[in-house]
Amino acid sequence: MTETTLLRKKQEGKLAIVTGGASGIGEATAHLFAKHGARMVVIADIQEELGHQVAKSIGLNHSIFICCDVTDEEQVKAMVEWTVKNYGQLDIMFSNAGILNKSDQTVLNLDLLAFDHLCAINVRAMAVCVKHAARAMVEGHVRGSIVCTASVAATMGSTHSTDYFMSKHAVLGLVRSASRQLGEHGIRVNCVSPSIVVTPLACSKTGMDAEQLEKAVEPHASLKGVVLKVGHVADAVLFLASDDSGFVNGHNLVVDGGWVD
Ligand SMILES: NC(=O)c1ccc[n+]([C@@H]2O[C@H](COP(=O)([O-])OP(=O)(O)OC[C@H]3O[C@@H](n4cnc5c(N)ncnc54)[C@H](O)[C@@H]3O)[C@@H](O)[C@H]2O)c1
Repeated sequence: MTETTLLRKKQEGKLAIVTGGASGIGEATAHLFAKHGARMVVIADIQEELGHQVAKSIGLNHSIFICCDVTDEEQVKAMVEWTVKNYGQLDIMFSNAGILNKSDQTVLNLDLLAFDHLCAINVRAMAVCVKHAARAMVEGHVRGSIVCTASVAATMGSTHSTDYFMSKHAVLGLVRSASRQLGEHGIRVNCVSPSIVVTPLACSKTGMDAEQLEKAVEPHASLKGVVLKVGHVADAVLFLASDDSGFVNGHNLVVDGGWVD
């Protein structure tokens, strides 16, 4: 018996959108959704070449790349509508696209242009994706699941990256409010909150390579002998997106090996 036949598939026949699916956490999650039987995984991202590559590596019968800048509401609306029109319904939205500013962004030196750009993606676009996914689910009478990517930054302060920490607090507010509003439609809204995990975003912010970054964050987790990988985060997203978490709503699932209290 092969590994695939042994696997209890958690997304059989589901239609999923993954924003920021061309790289990092989104890419790993898109692969995991497909492995778990998703009928189609739509990868929505602005990195065209990488996005097409990810869809191709999953298999073009189960994945497609759509170039979509999530800061543009019309593009998000069109992408969701196209998905529903072509595949019948939307079951899962993993709203994951996000950025970190290169500068320190301490309060005393806050660059407000950079602040606005970050919030346009991490906060405003996150709300836009939840809005249009929820509308499609309500209209289609789908008891769907929406998962957002927050961060451990959603529940703590920091000596730097003020805008990023603020933005992730906002994601928590969005998830908690949307979950209350959409519950009556049978739609669950949750978020996943990883600590620092090696991805292009984390490496480019810190200027460290994968090995250096993992070494630097290792002392923070109380769990020893294991390092956080994008696959751990994808596992948590799969749980929240699937029926395994059928009565979990408005929850912030922290994936930090016991870093934040
Ligand atoms: N890596 C970490 O340590 C870490 C920790 C906690 C939370 N997060 C969060 O995880 C999420 C994914 O980040 P990652 O670490 O995988 O980074 P990543 O850079 O590997 O992936 C982010 C993806 O989002 C896409 N994206 C950015 N702006 C976009 C836009 N306007 N429209 C569409 N797509 C856009 C990028 O092209 C990229 O493919 C982010 O929300 C980030 O804040 C990351």
